[in-house]
Amino acid sequence: MTLLQTTDLTLTRPGGETVLHDVSLQMAAGERVGLIGPNGAGKTSLMLCLTGVVRPTDGTVQMDGSTLSPGGFHRDMGFVFQQADDQLFSPTVAEDVAFGARNLGLTGKALEAAVNAAMDRVGITPLADRPVHHLSGGEKRLACLAGVLVMEPRLLLLDEPSAALDLRNRRRLIELLRSMDQAMLIASHDLELVLELCPRVILIDDGHIMAGGPARDILGDAGLMARHGQEVPHSLTHQGHIAHAHQRAI
Ligand SMILES: Nc1ncnc2c1ncn2[C@@H]1O[C@H](COP(=O)(O)OP(=O)(O)OP(=O)(O)O)[C@@H](O)[C@H]1O
Ligand SMILES: [Mg+2]
Repeated sequence: MTLLQTTDLTLTRPGGETVLHDVSLQMAAGERVGLIGPNGAGKTSLMLCLTGVVRPTDGTVQMDGSTLSPGGFHRDMGFVFQQADDQLFSPTVAEDVAFGARNLGLTGKALEAAVNAAMDRVGITPLADRPVHHLSGGEKRLACLAGVLVMEPRLLLLDEPSAALDLRNRRRLIELLRSMDQAMLIASHDLELVLELCPRVILIDDGHIMAGGPARDILGDAGLMARHGQEVPHSLTHQGHIAHAHQRAI
């Protein structure tokens, strides 16, 4: 069943530069899709248009067949910003996580339980009472994720979710996302993460969708990847296979 559908989304920035050109894509309920492309390709711009934070110049966004009004709050969509500082604003971590849940009408014990569960899922319970501006970069990212998960959106938009995370937290994030049944659009330069989580990938460059299809076909296409400033992830290269075989042998 189609969950998200964009039709000919176009975004021209006030300066006159068109950063999205006729972007049409579909996502099914529960589907995980990777969004890859070089710096400045339009990944974040696309997510901002999907969430309604930025009003597209042209085109539509539909969820479950209903057209979303640009600039509105779409409770089914949870957006984790690329820059954590754009998202966090409450005095403490727990209050920040509570903000979205409160917006959805949760209060009292139910609110507390939802906040505690979200912090626990991403492993930041010990940080609950810390001021958000005293967190490390990676801790901020995790607090942002908890603040979105607490709202239980049906579609998660994750903009560079593994940026600034150490290996343990990156692994925790991958396992957490893998365990969730929500649909996710994951914009990332961490192509190994994309490969692990996303059966399908969309490649965007210069505001155009350049390719879309099974992750292994797109990410493993050396020519396509090179044309758009990307490299085939190590685990799909010949050396990657040898390295994995070697790891298994020792
Ligand atoms: N507020 C803005 N005003 C004008 N142009 C902008 C604005 N934000 C982004 N752009 C431009 O839009 C284009 C797409 O940027 P966007 O942030 O969507 O790229 P991206 O694919 O997310 O890149 P990255 O991988 O670096 O995060 C770039 O050329 C960028 O300079
Ligand atoms: Mg971006």
